[in-house]
Order: sequence, then structure tokens, then C-alpha cells
Amino acid sequence: MERLQKVLAQAGVASRRKSETLIIEGKVKVNGVVVTELGTKVSNSDRVEVEGVQLVKEDYVYYLLYKPRGIISTVDDEKGRKTVLDLFPQVEQRIFPVGRLDYDTSGVIIMTNDGDFSYLMTHPKFGIKKKYIAKVKGIPDREALRKLEKGVDLDDGKTAPAHVKMQTVDKKAGTALIEITIHEGKNRQVRRMFDAIGYPVQKLRRESFGNITTHGLNAGEARELTKHEVKQLRVLAETGKIG
Ligand code: URA
Repeated sequence: MERLQKVLAQAGVASRRKSETLIIEGKVKVNGVVVTELGTKVSNSDRVEVEGVQLVKEDYVYYLLYKPRGIISTVDDEKGRKTVLDLFPQVEQRIFPVGRLDYDTSGVIIMTNDGDFSYLMTHPKFGIKKKYIAKVKGIPDREALRKLEKGVDLDDGKTAPAHVKMQTVDKKAGTALIEITIHEGKNRQVRRMFDAIGYPVQKLRRESFGNITTHGLNAGEARELTKHEVKQLRVLAETGKIG
């Protein structure tokens, strides 16, 4: 059983907020009866109509996109910039990105129309790990990296412990490649964490999301996640382990 407004949003009728308005305005019928109660729950066997048109429930779909730099990870952009959705012209379902990557960040991003799955993947309490490779200006020493590991103070609170590993150092260029694994998803978190220790990020790529990597894809390419991968991600969120 699911809440009526969620079912409407899921079917692509309108956003959840707008779906609530449709219900309150008496435009929604369940099994032929007008329903104006927002808490109403419906099951797959209920017949839902909006303004006389019967709802068709979308199948859930799950894609992995290797996001290139220079596109935004929202479904529309007020400035008309290219979005991750532009890379899925053939997909009919109303997919959206699971979490976000900055305009200038590349790497793994999952796209789906399954809101519950998205919640499992993004809420920090489920602890899905995201690994990033950051190229930073300057060469942080062990002490600086330890600060990131322990957590740094940002405007919106202290970051949770992270796993941090120096990958390579380019002494001539004065830069370093550092691997950092976090399970939170604060806005621009990795960039702000490195800013906080005085080593600004020049380039950022999300290497993995749970057990999913961009392996086999070029930037800008996408593929469907297998049923097995989706199941593994769910198990990972629910138990902290790959089943
Ligand atoms: N952290 C960032 O700073 N940017 C991203 O895109 C993702 C994580």
C-alpha cells in the first residue's frame, strides 16, 4: 500500500506537492469514488483516476551514468544548461538522479524513477559509501589527511569520519591525487572538506557508488543496472554488506 500522492507522482502525473493539491481539489478518484484525504493509501489493485483519466503505473528503471564534467545533475535547469536527462533521450520513464554531482564533477551517478530506492541510496543513515578521486592543489601531509579522516567543521556541521588515501603526488606541478570515501552527501562536500584543510580541489571524479563503478563506460555513456546490481545496492543499504 502506498500513499495516493506518492502513487500519482510516481506515475508522472505531477510532483508530490502538486499531486496533493489535485487530491484536495477533488480531482482524484479511487475505484470510482472521489478521495480528498491526503493520507489515503492505495494498492496495485486499486483503480486510480485523475480528472477522468486512469493512471498507468510506470515500471521502475535503474541506470548507471558516467557523468561527464560540464552538465548539471538536476532534471531541469533554469539557465537552460545541459542536464543529465539530456543523456537519456530514449527513456520514457520520469527518471531523476540519485543524489547530485556538481557541474564540474564527473563519475558515477545513478538515475531512476524509484523514490524509495533513491532514499535508501542517499540518506546517510544507510551508509552507502561513495568514493571520490580528488586532484588537489598542494601536497597535503599525513596530518592534514588525518583531519579529513576524523571529520572537519563545515558551515552545516562536522563531517563524519572518512577514509582517505594518498594515491600519487606530482611534485613538479605541486598537486596530489587523493582518494576519499564518504557516506554523507552534503552539498559540495568533498570540495568543501579539502577547502577546510587548505588544499582546494582542481578536479573531482566519483569513482564508485556502493559497489557500482564506471568500469566499461566512457564519460557521457550510460547502461541499465542489472537486477542483481540493484538488489546488491539495496542489501548494502539495509545490512551494510553485499549479500
Ligand atoms: N562532493 C563535491 O564536492 N562535489 C560533488 O559533486 C560530489 C561530492
